[in-house]
Amino acid sequence: MEASRALWPENGHHILEVRELTKTFGGLAAVKDVSFKLRKGMIKAIIGPNGAGKTTLYDLLTGIYLPDSGSVVFEGREIIGMPPHRITSLGMARTFQTIRLFPRMTVLENVMVGLHHRTRSGMLKASLKLPSERREERDMVEDALGYLDIVGLDMQASSLAGALPFGQQRLLEVARAMATGPRIMLLDEPASGLNTYETRELGEIIYGVRDKGVTVILVEHDMGLVMRISEEVLVLDYGEIIAEGTPDEIRNDPRVIEAYLGAELT
Ligand SMILES: Nc1ncnc2c1ncn2[C@@H]1O[C@H](COP(=O)(O)OP(=O)(O)OP(=O)(O)O)[C@@H](O)[C@H]1O
Ligand SMILES: [Mg+2]
Repeated sequence: MEASRALWPENGHHILEVRELTKTFGGLAAVKDVSFKLRKGMIKAIIGPNGAGKTTLYDLLTGIYLPDSGSVVFEGREIIGMPPHRITSLGMARTFQTIRLFPRMTVLENVMVGLHHRTRSGMLKASLKLPSERREERDMVEDALGYLDIVGLDMQASSLAGALPFGQQRLLEVARAMATGPRIMLLDEPASGLNTYETRELGEIIYGVRDKGVTVILVEHDMGLVMRISEEVLVLDYGEIIAEGTPDEIRNDPRVIEAYLGAELT
């Protein structure tokens, strides 16, 4: 499979607008005055040294932390102050830096957990197994298999999640996040621990996610992947944006090289 880079919308609608977001922990700013916009359908990377505030930014976007100040408008709606499950149901999905699967559930069941975030009857009613719910469950199995197919795990549907090789567990997280029916997907170091081949495949899978109409934010240390698949890159350092631009602009930005890329590329 080779990457087919689709045309990026030149002046599309903004799906996400982050304005002057700040979060301090014990007086130290983990995220400081961060503002950026995200065009619908794009793949945008966020890079920066360890501790730069990338995961904290995700925690703010997904409602895990409340910011000290700032605003996040998702498809025209302010989401700061909403609980995480509400933000998920509005269409924001994420994967975690540390894998968070249910290891003793099957691969399929893990994806179905994602689906339950948007089903009408939900977990409780599904367990009562009324005829309508049984039909709904059959449909859900089919849907779940579809998401596993996107990440190439459909053949492992009945394996235990915890028995999958590490790289496939990361892909399963992507499938589960897709199952919540997202409009935006936040990926937190999805290539971490993957080999070169798996990382290439991951790039194709991220294109696949984008091609399903999902806007993607990619937090990642693998610069090969970042520079290959992102349309825009935002660089954080000590919680602040120090640069934002195309991969080429970022690669050649002296400040970025000094703060991050110099160390990362050598
Ligand atoms: N719950 C917390 N309590 C106190 N400090 C925190 C907390 N969460 C994060 N921090 C601090 O905020 C800063 C940003 O951390 P964060 O995890 O967001 O960085 P990161 O860019 O994701 O780093 P990495 O690349 O290592 O994942 C760090 O200094 C970290 O120690
Ligand atoms: Mg992190």
